[in-house]
Amino acid sequence: MGIQITPSILNADFGALAAEVARIPSADWVHVDVMDNHFVPNLTFGPTMVEALARATDVPLDAHLMIEDADRNALAYVEAGCGSVTFHVEAARAPVRLAREIRSHGARAAMALKPATPIEPYADLLPELDMVLVMTVEPGFGGQKFLDLCLPKIRRTRELLARHGVETWLQVDGGVSLETIERCAEAGADVFVAGSAVYSADDPDAMVTRLREAAEA
Ligand code: DX5
Ligand code: ZN
Repeated sequence: MGIQITPSILNADFGALAAEVARIPSADWVHVDVMDNHFVPNLTFGPTMVEALARATDVPLDAHLMIEDADRNALAYVEAGCGSVTFHVEAARAPVRLAREIRSHGARAAMALKPATPIEPYADLLPELDMVLVMTVEPGFGGQKFLDLCLPKIRRTRELLARHGVETWLQVDGGVSLETIERCAEAGADVFVAGSAVYSADDPDAMVTRLREAAEA
């Protein structure tokens, strides 16, 4: 599939989300950060809002669920029209069953890891997943500093994927910018979330292109 750029709308203008998404036509996906004020200390929006956004754009939605009880809540985001749904393994009681449910309802299934969560215990799950998200900040807020300590995990995840011989994508999220994206790509990531880097740029769509070029370099 190659390099993909998935801007996060977390730092966009929530009063004008349809217009904000229209500013990034070059995006491969739009990353929607769902937060419940329990799994993370911040609150955003739920499936009704996501469904409205899905109707407002042709770019597929990539939902990142930072919520407790992912098992009971994830399918609502498939039904809301998301093409990809990411649950946190720390919040899933039965990640294999959940991944299979997401896939059987027609979306790509992805599993996220917080910075302190190792990939090794989940190595055997990789063939069940369409994407693994290695967080490069503690989830909850945009605009945080990239954590270099996560780079070895990106590398190890890429090695495990190669060992399994699966096509699973490897996404990074948190502090991804022109300054850090090359390090992530070099470590083996191929899908890049960028929030503040894109929405604080004068021309967000040009920034999507610049990030893509930097990752491909
Ligand atoms: C943080 C979210 C990210 C956030 C990234 O918990 O999961 O998607 O929007 O924002 P930046 O790119 O500013 O770190
Ligand atoms: Zn995110």
